[in-house]
Amino acid sequence: MVKEYIESNQQRFLDELFDWLRIPSVSADSRHKNDVRRAAEFLRDKLASAGVDTVEICETPGHPIVYAEKIINPALPTVVVYGHYDVQPPDPLDLWHSPPFEPVVKEGKIYARGSCDDKGQVYMHIKAFEAMMKLNALPCNVKFMIEGEEEVGSENLANFVKENHDRLKGDIILISDTAMISLEHPSITTGLRGLSYMEVEVTGPNRDLHSGVYGGAVANPINVLSKMIASLHDESGRVTIPGFYDAVDKLSAAEREAINKAPFNQDNYKKELGIDEVQGEKGYTTLERTGIRPTLDVNGIWGGYTGEGAKTVLPSKAYAKISMRLVPHQNNHAISELFTKHFLSIAPPSVKVKVTALHGGEPAVTPTDSEAFRAASAAFVDVFGKAPIPTRDGGSIPIVALFKKELGLDTVLMGFGFDSDAIHSPNEHYGVKNFLLGIETIVSFYKHYSKN
Ligand code: BES
Ligand code: MN
Ligand code: MN
Repeated sequence: MVKEYIESNQQRFLDELFDWLRIPSVSADSRHKNDVRRAAEFLRDKLASAGVDTVEICETPGHPIVYAEKIINPALPTVVVYGHYDVQPPDPLDLWHSPPFEPVVKEGKIYARGSCDDKGQVYMHIKAFEAMMKLNALPCNVKFMIEGEEEVGSENLANFVKENHDRLKGDIILISDTAMISLEHPSITTGLRGLSYMEVEVTGPNRDLHSGVYGGAVANPINVLSKMIASLHDESGRVTIPGFYDAVDKLSAAEREAINKAPFNQDNYKKELGIDEVQGEKGYTTLERTGIRPTLDVNGIWGGYTGEGAKTVLPSKAYAKISMRLVPHQNNHAISELFTKHFLSIAPPSVKVKVTALHGGEPAVTPTDSEAFRAASAAFVDVFGKAPIPTRDGGSIPIVALFKKELGLDTVLMGFGFDSDAIHSPNEHYGVKNFLLGIETIVSFYKHYSKN
């Protein structure tokens, strides 16, 4: 029934998704403010025609939240679907093989910014809901809360959640904004890392100088910053910030074994990324390094002359954006503070250093012994013929920890992307198969979950 509905409507589903993907809802770029709103309005209209009771564009000081409800019977369980309709900037544009906001299907994959993260995955939920409504098969209540600021830190959504405890009453949060291993090896994410995101500014002389006239005598802030950054890891790949690992959960041998049981081919991994060797903290596997260990990475570094040709300059300032991925039970505020203290302490007296925390979020682990997790597992068995493997993802969805804290709600992270889908990168894509099987799996989740 559901399968047939999806099959006979799949072209329309894709056409609609493509219309949505054509709207460049880049939350980080104020020039796209109106596009972000247009993407919210598009979603509102699609929710309305799919059959929700109420749908509303909730204004925030930033981009709006789209909120909708379908209450069939208050006595039945309520699923709260969360996702985001904003996307990352498409840069660098020249590395895209086709324009980021003109979706195309090539070899069974939809190429467009947001195809996987997260419009394509949100749209599966809208179409799963539509299918259940059309087939008279919606077995419980649904609330949709789709935000437009996930990629910039979800600050206004956090306030919305704090101010709307009653409205958001439900039994489980359902999110498709993560990855699965492969169609042959379906998986469910059971952990996400947290995040501390810092910006540092190193100032040397009060103006840019001639690098010949002054070079050698005056501190070069780029040289200094490079050295400071290099010192943030030791020989064994560990972060050198004092106290950085203090709160980190030690996993039991059994838990580590379970993580490493997931199918993972290191040779393919290296080949796909074009690298000859992996690296990281000594004593841990690649899956552990991205899943259960905290890390520190420079996301961007700039200063001096970066234009065409050579300009001899000893710059006045150098900058870097540095992120730390956190694991239970590291606290992002505490880590940002440790970073700041340490970074200031390693600055030589020849420069001045300023450190700012840009944003952050808590890590999350989701239960695997709940009715909701069992329902999700059963849904994967229905559609993929196999029980999903629990995995820890390296990315962050900070709002998950807040849902637990504010609403007391656990989350099921039922994501259908692949790590290789190039989210946040040029040529982001999402499998048409993933999209269609995802819709089916979501419908099946509702069926199993409502049988509680
Ligand atoms: N959907 C991603 C997070 C993700 C990706 C989790 C893959 C698991 C696997 C989300 O949109 C994202 O990009 N989050 C940001 C954090 C945010 C605070 C900007 C991230 O992880 O960098
Ligand atoms: Mn996302
Ligand atoms: Mn993202």
